[in-house]
Amino acid sequence: IMDYYGKYAAVTVVMLSVFLHILHSFPDGEFLMQGCPECKLGENRFFSKPGAPIYQCTGCCFSRAYPTPMRSKKTMLVPKNITSEATCCVAKAFTKITLKDNVKIENHTDCHCSTCYYHKS
Ligand SMILES: *[C@@H]1O[C@H](CO)[C@@H](O)[C@H](O)[C@H]1NC(C)=O
Ligand SMILES: *[C@@H]1O[C@H](CO)[C@@H](O)[C@H](O)[C@H]1NC(C)=O
Repeated sequence: IMDYYGKYAAVTVVMLSVFLHILHSFPDGEFLMQGCPECKLGENRFFSKPGAPIYQCTGCCFSRAYPTPMRSKKTMLVPKNITSEATCCVAKAFTKITLKDNVKIENHTDCHCSTCYYHKS
């Protein structure tokens, strides 16, 4: 019965962290007022332990739109007058860590603004 409880607790922890992450990802009043902190490593308070900090990339990158440069316009199949670029704060480098109960998470070691992608967990 302890084993069952352990698994249940691990699942709860994972779900809670996903939930917190979703909450964290939504723009709130502060986000709208002040923009967003720059893309950098932040300590994950949920999984970090004393002496074993776990880092994750958080923050914002710029999304911008600008007139398409002449040079690249010629290479486009369908020329667009405006080019827009969106980037996300993602890990450039990370290490995989296995917590107890086989929960795997990433310890980010370097962040950059890059193509937005969403990884499955
Ligand atoms: C995560 O990476 C940092 C360095 O980037 C390291 O100091 C820390 O110990 C790592 N955390 C774990 C749990 O391995
Ligand atoms: C791009 O700009 C040119 C001239 O400024 C205009 O004729 C053309 O319709 C525009 N193309 C698009 C896709 O907006």
